[in-house]
Amino acid sequence: MSKPTGYSRRDFIKTGSAAAGLGLAAPAALAGALPEAPGVIPRRSRPAVVSSGNGHQYRHDGDLTCVETVFQRMTQGDDILDSVIAGVRINELDPGDTSVGYGGLPNGDGVVQLDASVMHGPMKRAGSVACLEGVRTPAAVARAVMHETDHHLLVGPDAQRFARNMGFTIEDDLNSDVSRARWLDWRRRTDPSRWPGEDDPQRIGFLSGMEMVEEGLIDAEHYWGTINCNAVNAAGEIAGCTTTSGLAWKIPGRVGDSPILGAGLYVDGEVGAAGSTGRGEANLYNLTSFLIVENLRRGMTPLDAGMDAIRRIQQNTIEPRLLNEQGEPNFGIRFYILNAAGEHAGVTLRGGGNYAICTENGPEMVPFESLL
Ligand code: GLY
Repeated sequence: MSKPTGYSRRDFIKTGSAAAGLGLAAPAALAGALPEAPGVIPRRSRPAVVSSGNGHQYRHDGDLTCVETVFQRMTQGDDILDSVIAGVRINELDPGDTSVGYGGLPNGDGVVQLDASVMHGPMKRAGSVACLEGVRTPAAVARAVMHETDHHLLVGPDAQRFARNMGFTIEDDLNSDVSRARWLDWRRRTDPSRWPGEDDPQRIGFLSGMEMVEEGLIDAEHYWGTINCNAVNAAGEIAGCTTTSGLAWKIPGRVGDSPILGAGLYVDGEVGAAGSTGRGEANLYNLTSFLIVENLRRGMTPLDAGMDAIRRIQQNTIEPRLLNEQGEPNFGIRFYILNAAGEHAGVTLRGGGNYAICTENGPEMVPFESLL
């Protein structure tokens, strides 16, 4: 499934390592300019993995979390994107992570619909799927779109047909007991006449899934779903993946930012990577991951690049329903940023929390920088 097409990773590493061995200068991209003809890319990177916090929370049936798995695989010489996909697969398969893959919170009709994108820096290629039903591991299907087709994005029943043709197992229902129970609870709150449940009058009038967040039934991060994970290896090869069950209780067919290049994910093999979790619509309006990578290209640090982009989201949020009493955006959105040297940042529009990294020092949870 992970056949590299039109790209010799061995050749790339050979040229990259040779350049590093010659002690060539730091990446030109970090000095604010790209080489006119990349050819041999001088690199010496600190291997690093960055992800949303759930990337160091779930282990599924194994010993390692997502970021640990990615770091182990890429430092053992696996392809950089294959390493990232192996990492996020842990979250996709673990029903405890209700933001991703199997057991992800379903749409308004109770159907789990998944979005994912992958981007391979050295190959300069990407693949995505959206509204995919019945496959636990949408990131691997996105990789198959990248490797096996001339296209970038497949959606809905045709994405599922493609996955079936590629040998993926198709299941009738990706709900876990927990995701189904949460959906039923939401139905009872929003439509008590048709879904009376226990008919507790206190429940009637509760209209928003956010109330379930406030009650601790749903992790706030899982309401908008998603894991983003980006990695750079010692040769300076960069890749990223964003995979999600999307906004909980979304209108069927809604596609968020995760499978859209430049929004939920963007990788430039010479510069860096950025990806997001949180309110996808706010990200789509600003193509924020692309903006962040362009900021890196201009020489900004990952932190400055991210804060500049988050400010753009704030400036462009003017609808009253999206503002709190202070006139600030009332939703959450976060970015996970890595440059070609292995420097990283996690930025959030509001609130605290941590993102996950893994370097030669092992996994760590690192506090976000918050705009508000
Ligand atoms: N960021 C995930 C979504 O909005 O679908």
